[in-house]
Amino acid sequence: IGRNIIYLDKATSTNDIAKEMAEKGVPDGLIVIAEEQTKGRGRMGRKWITGKGEALAVSILLRPDIEPNLCPSITSLIALSSVKAIRKVTGFDIMIKWPNDLVLNNRKLGGILTEMTMEGMKVKYIIIGLGLNINQEDFDEDIKNIAVSLKSFSGENFNRRIILSEILNFFERDYEYFKRFGLSYFVEDIKKYSIIFGKEISVIDGYKSVDGTVVDIDKEGGLILKTSDGNLKRIISGDVIMEGL
Ligand code: BTN
Repeated sequence: IGRNIIYLDKATSTNDIAKEMAEKGVPDGLIVIAEEQTKGRGRMGRKWITGKGEALAVSILLRPDIEPNLCPSITSLIALSSVKAIRKVTGFDIMIKWPNDLVLNNRKLGGILTEMTMEGMKVKYIIIGLGLNINQEDFDEDIKNIAVSLKSFSGENFNRRIILSEILNFFERDYEYFKRFGLSYFVEDIKKYSIIFGKEISVIDGYKSVDGTVVDIDKEGGLILKTSDGNLKRIISGDVIMEGL
């Protein structure tokens, strides 16, 4: 991973550039980094702002030989690799808000947008987009109360290159284990760093919403909720709403 790097001052969205490259046949492990994104995308059709020189916006192209239903596991995996890496560099208590937000001090430090392209019934490639708030001092009005950067939290500036290379180091190794043993190998760590464990939450997926208490995260990264009628419900994707976050 990262033997092939495209580094851009300005891009529409690094996920889109990685996708163009993937369609041209560029091999597994390509990385696209941009200092600034003009059309950065978040999950659920939201926009993602990457201002110049302060954040990390990176996409990784993977061509894994896995079933399409395992793609959400890769999101959980890179969330974990990133948490371990940023904890190592900063010492801060970074947490995962299932499935793919990175949280610091109850605010959003970063997010992951994984996009899969199929060929017939098989995964052709996937693109993992990672956006991290590093040295921003303040945020737009609409996200001011929910966003945080390493700098706004601590007052310190961080070296984005060191953070990225640690993330890629952790992810490269974790990805090898994932291919051999699956996500189950990582589930204990994912639970350990999960901020929603034991909490009462709502999960919104499209037009449906489920409320319950998080009692487990299973071997594929699915969320197990106990609903008010006492039943267990398994959820594989969605947006989590919880108090204060
Ligand atoms: C989210 O929390 O909604 C996911 C945000 C993902 C943002 C990253 S930044 C790099 C890559 N390029 C994009 O356009 N989006 C992802």
